[in-house]
Amino acid sequence: MDGRDLVRSVKTAVGFGGAAQGVRTVRAAWRRGRSDAAGLPRRGAERARVPGSVLEAEPGPGGGVVRFARAELRITVTVDGAVFWGWDGAGPEPSYALVGHAPEPDPRAVLEPDKDGGWRVVAQRVTVAVSQHGAIEVRTPGGVPLRRDLPPRWWEPVSGGGARWMQRSEVAPDARFFGLGGRAAGPRLRDGTYRLWNTDPGRAFGPGDDPLYITMPVQLVVADAGTHLVFHDTSWDGTVTVREGEEGAGSGHDRPGACEVRMDGGPLRCWVVVGAPARVLRVWTSLTGAPALPPAWALGHHHARWGFGSEQEVRRIVAGYQERDLPLDAVHLDIDHYDGHRVFTVDRDRFPKLPVLAEELRRDGIRLVSIVDPAVKAESGNPVHDGGSAVDAFVRDASGRVVEGVVWPGEAVYPDFTQPGVRAWWGGLYRERLEQGFAGFWHDMNEPVSFTAFGEKTLPRSSRHALEGRGGDHREAHNVYGLCMARAAYEGLCDLVPEQRPFLFSRSGWAGMQRYGGTWSGDVATGWPGLRASLSLVLGLGLCGVPYSGPDVGGFDGSPSPELYLRWFQLASYLPLFRTHSSVRAGRREPWEFGAEVLGHARTALAERRRLLPYFITLAHLAHRTGAPYVRPLWWGDPGDRALRDCEDAFLLGDGLLVAPVLEPGVRRRSVPLPRGRWYDTATGEAYQGPGSVVVDAPLGRIPVLARAGAILPVRGADGGLSLEAWAPVRGRTGSGLVVPHAGDGWEEPEIERYGSRWKSGRRVVVRRDGKDGRSEPGRPVLVRGLDGG
Ligand code: NOJ
Repeated sequence: MDGRDLVRSVKTAVGFGGAAQGVRTVRAAWRRGRSDAAGLPRRGAERARVPGSVLEAEPGPGGGVVRFARAELRITVTVDGAVFWGWDGAGPEPSYALVGHAPEPDPRAVLEPDKDGGWRVVAQRVTVAVSQHGAIEVRTPGGVPLRRDLPPRWWEPVSGGGARWMQRSEVAPDARFFGLGGRAAGPRLRDGTYRLWNTDPGRAFGPGDDPLYITMPVQLVVADAGTHLVFHDTSWDGTVTVREGEEGAGSGHDRPGACEVRMDGGPLRCWVVVGAPARVLRVWTSLTGAPALPPAWALGHHHARWGFGSEQEVRRIVAGYQERDLPLDAVHLDIDHYDGHRVFTVDRDRFPKLPVLAEELRRDGIRLVSIVDPAVKAESGNPVHDGGSAVDAFVRDASGRVVEGVVWPGEAVYPDFTQPGVRAWWGGLYRERLEQGFAGFWHDMNEPVSFTAFGEKTLPRSSRHALEGRGGDHREAHNVYGLCMARAAYEGLCDLVPEQRPFLFSRSGWAGMQRYGGTWSGDVATGWPGLRASLSLVLGLGLCGVPYSGPDVGGFDGSPSPELYLRWFQLASYLPLFRTHSSVRAGRREPWEFGAEVLGHARTALAERRRLLPYFITLAHLAHRTGAPYVRPLWWGDPGDRALRDCEDAFLLGDGLLVAPVLEPGVRRRSVPLPRGRWYDTATGEAYQGPGSVVVDAPLGRIPVLARAGAILPVRGADGGLSLEAWAPVRGRTGSGLVVPHAGDGWEEPEIERYGSRWKSGRRVVVRRDGKDGRSEPGRPVLVRGLDGG
């Protein structure tokens, strides 16, 4: 830490919590530097290694082992067509990403000699070829290369210890990269280096900030030849450098796309899934876990603010919604409802009867959601601290001392969520939250954050972690800290309220976090670039298997203009998590704070969200069963369409709707790229033909939403019941739609209802339900739309 860092650190801490906090921060920062110096092995001299030439191969189930002069490669194709490979004895387990055990090998996939002394595994959906020097090529069943990983390189400390490694890959010149967790500059990942280290930027972020809270070594690569997902299963710090390729014009050469993954440690092991995007996500979530199903109320509108400050203020806000006839489903309480910022406490002066308030709100259909931070105030007498100490819950340094950081409550200690017993203890603490009447949980500051500033505001890298009994340090545990905290809460809540699905969302996380809940976009900066970043995060996370997320409407800091607020509100009303939230230091975010015109338009957006609730419920079930995100890039069904691949400002909501938000000021018309087929502007009924691009109206009162011809969408009818909105298919064609009716917030998995539509006598469109015994009357009210446009 140099002098400037020190000054910055004090300023940060003083800004957040006053002078005393500043002094504590500096103390903790010095301690942190000392503990890393003492607790981490010095790297010293290193020796580089590459696999060398192939020596022999040994077939095994689903593939086998290929031995090189200086390394060994194990390849397995699993029954669902996913490919695993691991160098130097690395197997798929243990893994924080995988749910349960790795899938069974495909017995039909065999390792066989290839040309030029290489080996290959030919499976039904993919061929993997290993060159004589350890390059690995993944090809489509038709033999078209999707990805070529060059032989990896390791750097091993001469004095022993874990290796750093690097893996370079080539993809098609037309390929586009997506994913890597939540990236503000996406969804298309342009040339640059993306870090794999979950990070709180410490201030409101915009598209230029990277990394953010959720990083994942998961890439989704889309090219004319096919789509594939690559996952390097190691949680260590690393980088991914992406360089898009270029197709040579005229007689010029093509330049392939390139990607370089560098990791500071961990096994070099990798999963690859190839196929259509829907298949890739299905297999990916079968490996890493089905996305948790949010309760129906969590698909409505949420309102939060850091600094409600009292029960009266919460009541005032709720009354504001009710008086103005604005639907509201959840209110979130931030750290200001805690007693002295201590987690699992309540400030009884300002929130004297929280359970009563919760009950009153629940009667009006509104749930309370509580923030939960991992850091526990380090003071004896604090029951959470004492309880944790009793089970040895807190992270220690290499010398055995409990590591202290500084967060909102001051000096704080951190549970080691990589230890099963600690997770069980922490999970039990949610009982207190449930008794206060909270129905959902919002995990924050779990990268984890300490305001101590040595560049990185987190725990010292030398901090020790259990890592499920294997033992290790924060370099390996950091990126999975939020994931393991989510697991602790999820499992605890399942024990405490077995009949209900838990609802939680977490700022930080890693591959597999979707099995416990979703996330939100963190402290996105108020401004038009922040609005764009909000969409990038939701789309990118969805492609990494995390389908439930959404931004702070209006941005976290500052005061949005009425127009910006409204455009943010309109976008978020079509995203899975629809939440207004802002900092204690920012302007208000209630819809009535921006004038009568904005209020009217916000009411329209809220009403439409409520009308589409059955569609959101259906999408949540489909995400849970298939991994398909609610919010999908336009190329989802047609990844070969290059114009769609490059569109970053519109998205598909399920199969049926295309949403084209307004992301710039002053825009009242915008162009919308269309996937194949006919699309109806849902506001005007006008029909357009894709593929191609159309310009549609985007007045201040709404953003363009188009419906696919033939789509059948479940919506809330005027009587509150489930109705079907059927968009006329193209004449001579049929339509279809899936509906999963709401069956409570327990664990029931209601049957999927299937509907079909067709033209009858060339004049009208009829909708039928498809069942085991054939077609029947739909049994639900049906509204056919788009007949005029047909
Ligand atoms: C940071 C979170 O990102 C933000 O949403 C929250 O309001 C503050 N912490 C205070 O808890």
